[in-house]
Amino acid sequence: MCSKKPKSLKEALNDKLSPEKLKLVPRSWDIVGDIAILDIPIQLDDEKELIGNTLLNTFKPIRVVVNKLSEVKTEYRTRKFEIIAGEDRTETIYREYECRYKLDIEGAYFSPRLGTERIRIANQVKADERVLVMFAGIGFYPVLIAKKSNAEVYGIELNPVAFGYMEENIRLNKVSVTPIQGDVRKKTSDLGKFDRVVMPLPKDAENFLDISLPALKDDGIIHFYDFARNGEETTKKVEKICLELGYETKILDVVRCGSYSPALSRFCTDFMIYRPI
Ligand SMILES: C[S@@+](CC[C@H](N)C(=O)[O-])C[C@H]1O[C@@H](n2cnc3c(N)ncnc32)[C@H](O)[C@@H]1O
Repeated sequence: MCSKKPKSLKEALNDKLSPEKLKLVPRSWDIVGDIAILDIPIQLDDEKELIGNTLLNTFKPIRVVVNKLSEVKTEYRTRKFEIIAGEDRTETIYREYECRYKLDIEGAYFSPRLGTERIRIANQVKADERVLVMFAGIGFYPVLIAKKSNAEVYGIELNPVAFGYMEENIRLNKVSVTPIQGDVRKKTSDLGKFDRVVMPLPKDAENFLDISLPALKDDGIIHFYDFARNGEETTKKVEKICLELGYETKILDVVRCGSYSPALSRFCTDFMIYRPI
């Protein structure tokens, strides 16, 4: 006799938890490589192992199950996890658009939900461009941009762990990217002018526009990430800060590329700058 494979985690736990507890079981989880990431509510603390093992045994490609322990708040934008089932590791290989990325989910920021946004940027890059990716993390943007174009790509990252993975991912994907370890505030001015600067630091990118704007060639483009209530709020912020720094802006596009909280979404504003005459 063969039993039917459960379609969801709730279904797999159906006869193992009380109806009250079952209601609290997460409906979804993130997958990064072979690691499943759950956000289990505190009321299910005593059931974490059961939930983790059930997920592991029901959905076969998963080899590790972790539970989120903290929010993304540090300067390096990392968070803490606890392993609740499977192998004892937080390192994995994640595949996205013809690229492979090695990463440690605890040592460096990552988001499997931004793939569509990363390819949107990479598809805009032309072969002869000079591109600077600030806040480059483990190299998602620089590696993909270099893979898709023949551009001259630079990636700056502060976190030594994330930087180590960026170096490894450049080798892994056989792309040409110049990785630079350090603070964009100290490293950018030595690099000359760019056709494109990517600023994927949604909470603080506005504090670095004084560095990125002077690094831009005439006709260059900035991709500025921000958490905001709507597109207008973020473009107004961009226009105001740029004006204070002595530049007019030409907004090319504003894209909603994720949510941050019930009230705030992640936006990317693509814009050009010029000096008023
Ligand atoms: C939100 S994460 C984005 C990482 C990567 N771009 C991605 O999409 O996965 C921001 C990254 O910026 C780095 N960072 C923060 N402040 C920085 C600074 N002043 N200079 C360089 N990197 C910085 C953090 O360590 C973190 O890896």
